[in-house]
Amino acid sequence: MLNLFPVTAKINPADHLEIDGQDVCSLAQTWGTPLYLYDGATVRQNAQNLETWFRRWYAGESQVAYAAKVYFSLEMARKLKEMGIGVDAASLGELNMARLAGFAPGNVHLNGNNKSREELLAALRWGIQAVVVDSLEELGFLENLAAAEQRQVEIWLRVTPGISAKTHAYDLTAHPNSKFGLPMHDGQAAEAIRQALRSPWLRLTGLHTHIGSQIFELGPFRQAIEILYALAEAEGFVPQTFCPGGGWGVPYLPNGEAVPPAEDWIRTVSEAVTAESTRRGWPLPRLVVEPGRWLAARAGLAVYTIGTHKVVNDGSRVVAVDGGMADNPRHALYQAEYTALLADRAGAEPRHRVTLVGKFCESGDELIPQVMLPDYERGRVLVMPVAGAYQLSMASNYNLAPRPAALWLENGEIHVLQQRERIEESWWVS
Ligand SMILES: Cc1ncc(COP(=O)(O)O)c(C=O)c1O
Repeated sequence: MLNLFPVTAKINPADHLEIDGQDVCSLAQTWGTPLYLYDGATVRQNAQNLETWFRRWYAGESQVAYAAKVYFSLEMARKLKEMGIGVDAASLGELNMARLAGFAPGNVHLNGNNKSREELLAALRWGIQAVVVDSLEELGFLENLAAAEQRQVEIWLRVTPGISAKTHAYDLTAHPNSKFGLPMHDGQAAEAIRQALRSPWLRLTGLHTHIGSQIFELGPFRQAIEILYALAEAEGFVPQTFCPGGGWGVPYLPNGEAVPPAEDWIRTVSEAVTAESTRRGWPLPRLVVEPGRWLAARAGLAVYTIGTHKVVNDGSRVVAVDGGMADNPRHALYQAEYTALLADRAGAEPRHRVTLVGKFCESGDELIPQVMLPDYERGRVLVMPVAGAYQLSMASNYNLAPRPAALWLENGEIHVLQQRERIEESWWVS
């Protein structure tokens, strides 16, 4: 079970869970719940591993660009910048946050299937390394903006190779009917290359694809790279940058299927890009990956307090915590699976099968349909591991719930990533 938790997780002699040497129950008491904790050592170790694996498997230049959509706050952004990581932004908010945190524009690129004029202008004026163009319509729109600004813009083209990996349908992004990217089947991707190469305002330097999220299969990554290289060759375009996206998954359950190590992902994309370039006599491109979930998920922990509990008609035990779908909508959205542990009885024998629910006014506000817990009662601190990606970043204010605080724990220090929201100071109080 602890292998799902941050690398510094331990159970102390009081049977309490500790992260980075800090008692999670004390943190819950001091900071209140729901609370999110991020273990700095886990993020740092992941970032270092990616660097090591690229050095091992790729002879060309490489860049890791954090997919800011998984979780981004100013403090988080600053920490990632210190680690030498770049940013894959998907909105004006993420772009501005990267800028505020001091990222160099050359380490930032902008994705999105419907970028606004404001987003494109911000990217243009800041001079980021690339706008990742998602459609033929956007190509023309961006070209006109660049001409009006009298400023050339560097672009990559996001290509939809028409392949499906094994993951939840909502996590697929490169299947033939995807809303993302330039489709290949009717020549839109090829046409975009031709148009971009003709334009005096667009500087086409790269190709991009992202096949989806929570993926453990290596084949689809290889296949997507081969398809994009064949497209580039057919159009006489040699990419200086190649980005096969993010998408490598993480286990969420203690006894789930064995999954290949993440190094296999880096090795596969490195080998495929090397083989495709070498076969054509092309120089190795700058290889950019956009991991989100894999970098942040295991570092994060959701901390709740148990409130009411009851036994319902079919005999199921329903246990409610003080958060739920407002801070973590993933189960409600995609039936995402999780496990849980009582932080103040961390080593105790799980004896009761319970349904873990939130406190929000929706029957779909379930966090875990079935999980084993030891004896529990109101006031116990419950933690859900692997909560560092796509939880807080998708959080809402449903039932006017304030979004939780998030803390970064490293070397015995606490850094506030985000303060608990104060409803009375929010935008709807005027
Ligand atoms: C373009 C792009 N890159 C990277 C990511 C990050 O994916 P993941 O968190 O699975 O690594 C996403 C998210 O789906 C994405 O849309």
